[in-house]
Amino acid sequence: ATYDLLVVGSANADLVIGVERRPAPGETVLGSDLATHPGGKGANQSVAAARLGARTALLARVDDDAHGRLLLDSQRAAGADTVGVLVGGAPTGVALITVDPSGDNSIVVSPGANARLTPEDIRAAGSLLAASRVVSTQLEIPVETVTELVRTLPAATRFVLNPSPPAPLPPEVLAACDPLVVNEHEARYILGDDVSAADSPADWARALLALGPRSVVITLGAEGALTADGGGSPVTVPSPKVDAVDTTGAGDAFTAALAWRIGLGDDLPTAAAYAARVGAASVTRQGAQESYPTADEVPAQEETPSA
Ligand code: RIB
Ligand code: NA
Repeated sequence: ATYDLLVVGSANADLVIGVERRPAPGETVLGSDLATHPGGKGANQSVAAARLGARTALLARVDDDAHGRLLLDSQRAAGADTVGVLVGGAPTGVALITVDPSGDNSIVVSPGANARLTPEDIRAAGSLLAASRVVSTQLEIPVETVTELVRTLPAATRFVLNPSPPAPLPPEVLAACDPLVVNEHEARYILGDDVSAADSPADWARALLALGPRSVVITLGAEGALTADGGGSPVTVPSPKVDAVDTTGAGDAFTAALAWRIGLGDDLPTAAAYAARVGAASVTRQGAQESYPTADEVPAQEETPSA
């Protein structure tokens, strides 16, 4: 394949304000100076993989505006191929982000051009799909577009989905995932009433597998991640301990690193352990794309203390 990873997904300008605390409804708070960063879950994944050294392409839609240029520049600087980035149709997507002193964020996205990435755009990208070992996507583009993507994928191409932000998914999309990558919030959304307070991440993984994905990865923040593929018990992998400055886009870096490594032949736990170290590195720096490590900057596997 020409590309290790093709990311199909969103590209947003992230407009970020640091806050001491978030305003309640009807309340106003003052925050930091405004920072504008290249973001969007799709564009983030693409930059993350390219910075690690993956041959990466992005299929996305932006406008011919300042935000669109910021996003294209960031892809090119990381070494990602922008041949699949379509231009026009609506203003480039924007994410309004607040980051609190613990590094946690909350995000409102205006999809703009991302909502105009259509099933037809997927059909027109057949050669890009055929040239890619792994294709990964998220849900900041229309679900119909994701559905067309799984219908169009060549049989040999591995499909990775991070269903963020969560939305109802057709069974054929769930069945194509190898893996489905979710955090706790996304797992609970998909499982709905099938999940009880007593359930552990391993229980969620088994319940998710029952919905059709070939494999599942559950990200657990500082606790690492859990992988399951139906053969044997779920496996938990650790995350290195780091001081979080800004967690924005850490999940995107995790998913991109994972998708790249499984395409190179790593088994799921090995790829997830590497991805957890990539995600951990990203939270130690501000922003999403600018915070992603190169391969040299990924922290080494910590020694397992002997009992
Ligand atoms: O996952 C982080 C991303 O979510 C941000 O870059 C923002 O654009 C939103 O899409
Ligand atoms: Na970061």
